[in-house]
Amino acid sequence: MLSAKDNETLTRVGPGTPMGNLLRRFWMPALLESEVPTPDCDPVRLRLLCEDLVAFRDTNGRVAILDANCPHRLASLYFGRNEECGIRCVYHGWKFDADGNCVDMPSEPDETSYKDKVKIASYPTVIRGGVVWVYMGPPEFAAEPPDFEWSRLPERQRTATKRIQQNNWAQAVEGGIDSSHISFLHNKTDKQTSELTDLPRNPYHGKDRHPVFEVEESDCGLLIAARRNAGPDEYYWRVTQFLLPFYTMIPPVGQERDSSTAPYDGHAWVPIDDHTTWTWSFSANPHREYNDKEYAFRGGPNGMWGPIDENFMPVRNRENDYQIDRARQRNFNFTGIDGIPNQDAAVQESMGTIVNRQREHLGTSDRAIVNFRRLMLRLANELEAGRAPETAKNSAVYNVRSASVIAPHGVPFREAAMNLTKGADK
Ligand code: FES
Ligand SMILES: [Fe+2]
Repeated sequence: MLSAKDNETLTRVGPGTPMGNLLRRFWMPALLESEVPTPDCDPVRLRLLCEDLVAFRDTNGRVAILDANCPHRLASLYFGRNEECGIRCVYHGWKFDADGNCVDMPSEPDETSYKDKVKIASYPTVIRGGVVWVYMGPPEFAAEPPDFEWSRLPERQRTATKRIQQNNWAQAVEGGIDSSHISFLHNKTDKQTSELTDLPRNPYHGKDRHPVFEVEESDCGLLIAARRNAGPDEYYWRVTQFLLPFYTMIPPVGQERDSSTAPYDGHAWVPIDDHTTWTWSFSANPHREYNDKEYAFRGGPNGMWGPIDENFMPVRNRENDYQIDRARQRNFNFTGIDGIPNQDAAVQESMGTIVNRQREHLGTSDRAIVNFRRLMLRLANELEAGRAPETAKNSAVYNVRSASVIAPHGVPFREAAMNLTKGADK
């Protein structure tokens, strides 16, 4: 459980809130590059950390992210004209460049210098790995974006997708680092016979349903190791990375003894506001290109993170009970809901958009969740006291992988997974 005050601190991300201030010290995925594909393309509506924004790619190819509301009389720049290196408000024609300068104010007399005094909030962006990243914190503290291995792989070796989730970001992260739920929520029933599963699976999740957790702080966040029995004298370890402030890397699931040749997946849960979240899904195959089928499966709108509509809303969602099928629940899978992300969304959204953590009864399998909350609250409180998070200043610490490995009893997971958790050098 968590006190009401700590729950507020953990979950609220608007401007000026402690957690909002903390998250703003980190670069965040904002858009798929394909949403702003060409110079002078259509503007895109965007909301992040409770701020309404507009994005556009200017004539020089630079992606701009500005406050959505024109500083004149607050009309939305989403309706603006993206022309000649700036966006022009359609109400009275004021025009702003990617740095937020007002470069034209045709509704005022020529001789006035008023336009030189007017600015609109603008946030720096970079494009990496097919994703537009944004930094929304104080400009003087902007560092390098995180050096994720996937973000510098060639296009055919990585994917990025996103979908809307209708609950608070921290609740989504807690689902992502909760390795024990895969034995239940994502499991198939004993009666399942011939249908193919979504993903390769190994036998240990079903056989050992109460993993033992070991959680350690790392340079980038937390290392969360879940240990399951894998025979008389071996353990199967899954090592999930939690990376500040809202990323996870999921251990590969396969039949091999370790994940040294496997692709891996990850998420970012980026707050749209306190009640809505972008669930980003990434994947990386550092070892080879994905074939067409794998690429579509991991990156396509109807692949493993879909199906979604043109606004990134899952087709199976809260409004239609995720299309739960009770017959399939009896005979096929644990939930009767198709698709791992829909199963996650069903339980996480069902808790309420901001779960009341005072009512919980946490068990030993919730250790990672407890550690996550402690870490985030500590960092938010430290920042309030004037101490900025070191991780935000050090992009290199993000060059890591998740891992899975079978190791003899007595070998610590750090040792067994040491080489597996490093990303390739640049
Ligand atoms: S409201 Fe934008 S120019 Fe007047
Ligand atoms: Fe899950």
